[in-house]
Amino acid sequence: MTFASPFPVGFSNRNGKLYCEDIPLDDLARRYGTPLYVYSRSAIEETIADYQQELKGTDHRVFFAMKANSNLGILDLMNRKGCGFDIVSGGELARALAVGADPKKIVYSGVGKTVREMREALQAGILCFNLESIPELDRLQEVAADMGVVANVSVRINPNVDAKTHPYISTGLKNNKFGVAYESSVELYKKAASLPNIRVTGIDCHIGSQITELSPFLDAGHKVLDLVDALKAEGIEIDHIDFGGGLGVRYIDETPPAASELVKALTTLCEERGYGHLTLYFEPGRSLIARSAVLLMTVQYLKPTESKNFCIVDTGMNDMMRPALYEAEMPIVETVENDEPAKRWDIVGPICESGDWLDKNRRLKVRAGDVLAMFSAGAYGMSMASNYNSRPNAMEIMVSGEEVQVIRERGTYADLMRNERLLKQVKRD
Ligand code: LLP
Repeated sequence: MTFASPFPVGFSNRNGKLYCEDIPLDDLARRYGTPLYVYSRSAIEETIADYQQELKGTDHRVFFAMKANSNLGILDLMNRKGCGFDIVSGGELARALAVGADPKKIVYSGVGKTVREMREALQAGILCFNLESIPELDRLQEVAADMGVVANVSVRINPNVDAKTHPYISTGLKNNKFGVAYESSVELYKKAASLPNIRVTGIDCHIGSQITELSPFLDAGHKVLDLVDALKAEGIEIDHIDFGGGLGVRYIDETPPAASELVKALTTLCEERGYGHLTLYFEPGRSLIARSAVLLMTVQYLKPTESKNFCIVDTGMNDMMRPALYEAEMPIVETVENDEPAKRWDIVGPICESGDWLDKNRRLKVRAGDVLAMFSAGAYGMSMASNYNSRPNAMEIMVSGEEVQVIRERGTYADLMRNERLLKQVKRD
C-alpha cells in the first residue's frame, strides 16, 4: 500500500485492509455505495480537543469556519463539543441556528454581506460582525439603526504578510480583496466608534489557508498588536483579537504545527505585548475537519494509453474540486492490499473536462471494481461540491467504533431537478 504513514487518527491498516475506526472501508463502500465521504467521529473529537487544550481555564474561543464543512451532522458535533461558528452567509447562519448554536457564539466574516443577511444576523443576536470596508460599516449602521439595535463589530485588517501558501488561498496580501488596508484602519475605527448603533469590540485578521509554519501567524500577530497600540492611543479599547483560521494539515508530507502550538504561540505573544487580558478568538476550518475523512470511490475502467494510464473512477471534480481548482495533491490509495502489479495511474473522474482529475501519477495496484480512498478529504470537499454533469450529491456518513450514522443521504435525480420549472405554454409554440 502506498499510503505514507502515519495514518490520520481514526484510520488504520489492519491485516492489509484500511479501516475507519472499527469498520473496513471497502465494506462501507459496498454497504452505502460510492462516492462516499466517511468521517471518523473520534478524529474530529481529538482535533477539537487539541485546539481546546491550551484554551482551558481562559475566555479564549474557537469558532469553526463552517465553509470548510457545513454538514449539519458535523456542525452538531462541533456545537456539542463547545465550538462556536464563523459564518460567511445567511445560509451558514441558518445552518448554525438549525443545530441549536448559541448566537452569542457566532461571528460573521466575509466581504459582501447583504442587507438581508445583516438583518437576519442582528435578529438572531450574533456575537460580532467582522467588517471589511467603510461602505459595509455604513450599511450595518443603517440596518442596525432601522432595527433599533446595536451591532458589535471587529475590523478585519489586512496585515500584508505572506502566508507562503497557494496564491488562490492567500488572503493577507495587499493585492487581495480581503480586509482593510493596515494604514487606513485607524480611520475606520474612529468612524465606527462615533456611530450610534455600532459598538467596537475587536480586531481580526485572516491571512490565508493551509499555512504550515508558525512565522506568518506571528508576523501578522505583531502587526495586529501594533494596531491595537495605535487604537489605544486614540482612546479606542477592544475586548478581543480574532486571529482567523488558516492552520494547515498534512496531505502528503507537510509538517504543520499542532493546533495547541499555534494557540500557545499567539497567547504568549499577546501576553508579552501586554495584552494578556484580551480574549483571543480562532476561526479554524480545515485543521478541525480535513484529516477526519476519506472520500471513497470505485474504479469503473482501467484505460492504459500510449502516454498515460488512466484509472477512471465514479467520483469527479464535482465531488471534490481541490485537485482541479488548486492543483492540490491529495493522495489516493488502495483500501485492500492485492497482488496486481503496481503501475503509475492518473485517477480521473467521469466529467467531460480534462481538468477532471483527482490524483496524478500515483503508484497503485488496482483492478476495475476496486474501492480507492482519498485521505484528508474532510475540508472543502463536500462543501464545495456541485452537481455539474447532473451528478447527484455524494453521501456522507460518520463512523464511531462499529456504529455508522448517515449524515447526508445520497442525492437523487429528483433532487437535481427540484427547483427547476418547465416553461409556460406561450402563443408562438
Ligand atoms: N476565517 C476566514 C475569514 C476565512 O476566510 C477562512 C477561509 C477561514 C477562517 C478558515 O480557514 P482555514 O482554517 O480553513 O484555513 N477552498 C480552499 C480554502 C479557502 C479558505 C477560505 N477562507 C481550499 O480548499 O484549500
